[in-house]
Amino acid sequence: MSIIIKNGHIVTASEDYVADIFIKGEQIVAIGKDLNYKADKMIDATNKLVFPGGIDPHVHLDMPFMGTYSSDDYETGTRAALFGGTTTVIDFILQTQGDTLYNALKTWQEKSKNKAVGDYAYHMAITDFNDKVAKEVVQFIEEEGISSFKTFMAYKGALMIDDGQMVQLMKVVKAHGGLVTVHATNGDMIDSLIAKNRVVGNLSPLYHYLSQPEITEAEASARFADMLHYTGCPGYIVHMTCEGALNAVRQSTKRNQKVFVETCTQYLVLDASLYEHGFEGAKWVMSPPLREKKDQDALWSGINQGLIHTVGTDHCPFLWEQKLMGKDDFSKIPNGHPAVEHRIELLYSEGVMKGKISLTKFVEITSTNAAKIFGMYPKKGTIGIGSDADMVIFDPNKKHIISAKTHHMNVDYSGYEGFQIKGKTETVILRGKVVIEANKCYSAPGNGKFIKRGRTIVIN
Ligand code: URP
Ligand code: ZN
Ligand code: ZN
Repeated sequence: MSIIIKNGHIVTASEDYVADIFIKGEQIVAIGKDLNYKADKMIDATNKLVFPGGIDPHVHLDMPFMGTYSSDDYETGTRAALFGGTTTVIDFILQTQGDTLYNALKTWQEKSKNKAVGDYAYHMAITDFNDKVAKEVVQFIEEEGISSFKTFMAYKGALMIDDGQMVQLMKVVKAHGGLVTVHATNGDMIDSLIAKNRVVGNLSPLYHYLSQPEITEAEASARFADMLHYTGCPGYIVHMTCEGALNAVRQSTKRNQKVFVETCTQYLVLDASLYEHGFEGAKWVMSPPLREKKDQDALWSGINQGLIHTVGTDHCPFLWEQKLMGKDDFSKIPNGHPAVEHRIELLYSEGVMKGKISLTKFVEITSTNAAKIFGMYPKKGTIGIGSDADMVIFDPNKKHIISAKTHHMNVDYSGYEGFQIKGKTETVILRGKVVIEANKCYSAPGNGKFIKRGRTIVIN
């Protein structure tokens, strides 16, 4: 199968030009003006943007969490991602405390086998570190193509490790060329605030927000950066939400330290006023919670200052029925919200169209930086000769409205219902195959491939 894309406005993290692209098999073979190749399919991309397929570095598919499972599985989640222009997602395997990493890997391989519609990779979440696990960490990096290890500084009793385990893990990961990633919030502090609120009967979703003040994230982010500095290990902070945490990372750069940072779409475009409408606020009960307008400004600036490298979604959807598990107590509401489908369109509409970020920065934060940090570049994350032909043909002028009635995620509400968007993912190509065209998906379950990853490429 070969495809020629004519006259597209090609955007990468470093360039922005009009040309044709010729694809043969799974890869890009030629890029240039007026290419004269015979192809099985021609796509006219005049007046359209053509950029690399998105990489969402933070999703939770079919994940056991807070007494239930996230409602998108590998089929529905990766399909929804493709509809939005994300061709690769990185999901999290969770180690069960007391059990091995390989047992957890097996469970996640079963979840994804013959189901994924788009490409995927795994982060390995270490919830219980010991000498046996240390050996498995090395095997994961060297044999399994899983080189990033997620840690939690919160969710005590289920996922959290202590600082002693964190430092020992960092030493092993550094020695073998991996990366430690973190949910950086002070779990003990949050647990005590939750307990205090419950005792006095403060039980609505608003108190989820009030139990996780900015300081809980700023303190943990600074502590994580200090531990990285002490061990020399490279690190990545997931779902950063606020000015205080960003300043902690800014401070760490003064000792010439590299700490990679991810924020998520919701923290850039939604704010904590959504918790002021009773139980409706459960739609946005996630950890960390939505923040203030001043934090949104700090995050957009952080992107332009090169302090924030990626924008993911932390896609962790729950049906409304699942959210109702916490109707009488915010601490029982499953944490997470649906977002994987709208990351790219929201960032284009709210970021590029509103003049907050450039087109090349948009590509950097939606695709290229994730590919570099997580060891998939230049196979993924760019439009270049020899790269996988993963790309999005995007209509920059098409207006549409986000709604649960039209989205493809397996969830019965949208956190962005009624949002007016300018810019739409029109055609998506995954490894040389058209998988989204005219609002239809042409990728079957099992077509998505597990992507083995290598080492981080250090970026600025
Ligand atoms: O609320 C969230 N973020 N749920 C998913 C788990 C996590 O902390 O990333
Ligand atoms: Zn988290
Ligand atoms: Zn998450």
